[in-house]
Amino acid sequence: MPHFYNNFVPYYDAWLSSDPTTAPLIEHYKEAILQHDPHTTIIYLGLATGRIAKELLENTPHQFIGIDYSVAMIEHAKKHFQSLHLDKRIQCLHQDILSLTIPTSKNLFLLPLRTLGHFVELKDKKSALRAIYESMAEGEQLIFDMELFNEKRAKEVHAQYMCAHYDEENKRVLYNKFSFDFQTQHIDVDVQHATLQDNTLEDLEKLSYNFSWITPAQTHTLLHELGFKNIHNHQSDTYQLWTVTK
Ligand SMILES: C[S@@+](CC[C@H](N)C(=O)[O-])C[C@H]1O[C@@H](n2cnc3c(N)ncnc32)[C@H](O)[C@@H]1O
Repeated sequence: MPHFYNNFVPYYDAWLSSDPTTAPLIEHYKEAILQHDPHTTIIYLGLATGRIAKELLENTPHQFIGIDYSVAMIEHAKKHFQSLHLDKRIQCLHQDILSLTIPTSKNLFLLPLRTLGHFVELKDKKSALRAIYESMAEGEQLIFDMELFNEKRAKEVHAQYMCAHYDEENKRVLYNKFSFDFQTQHIDVDVQHATLQDNTLEDLEKLSYNFSWITPAQTHTLLHELGFKNIHNHQSDTYQLWTVTK
């Protein structure tokens, strides 16, 4: 699975640039961080290129640790933070969430932007949340979000190619195809990269990955079974945002 992200680094920020949930979620994560004293370390799980961590670093005084299992993402993020002179505020670590080793105490754990969906089966989501739980100290918090699945919308877009980004200057297009399995809650995602020549799309490479959704009731059950306390869900029309304590 790191395969997709290792190969997707050059397109990643453009691909997600039109995602409408990013801005409100950044606000929520920023507000949550600011409620913790500045000596708390922010453990950012699923760092990717660092596009969201950058916004959080620039708007909070805290030290961060960014974690990702894609070597290419971690290397890219390190260079990105160096170029922004943010590298003294964030340590970028290559680790799998399933075998986390956190070197700091007094932490706030974040798992932003649907990353839990990469753990495709419910039992995999439970393993990921368990690994995070075991890395936390008593009283520490975890905040994460997942999409609020919209079955009507999913049926409309099922197996259709939809434009995710158009780079007018370079005539490059990124388009997505989501194929939903409504029984298993799996999503097969194809991301196609293409050039636009004389009004004709010419396909370049296609990258694919497996994703999934989870209902708020399922999320609540997992969190409860794992022993998380103070389980709180702030829900919008499009996402579920959970804050929980060990
Ligand atoms: C949906 S992206 C979210 C990234 C970031 N929060 C953002 O919005 O830009 C998921 C990221 O999590 C990483 N990831 C997925 N599964 C992981 C795992 N088991 N351990 C560590 N990182 C993982 C991927 O490599 C990818 O960079």
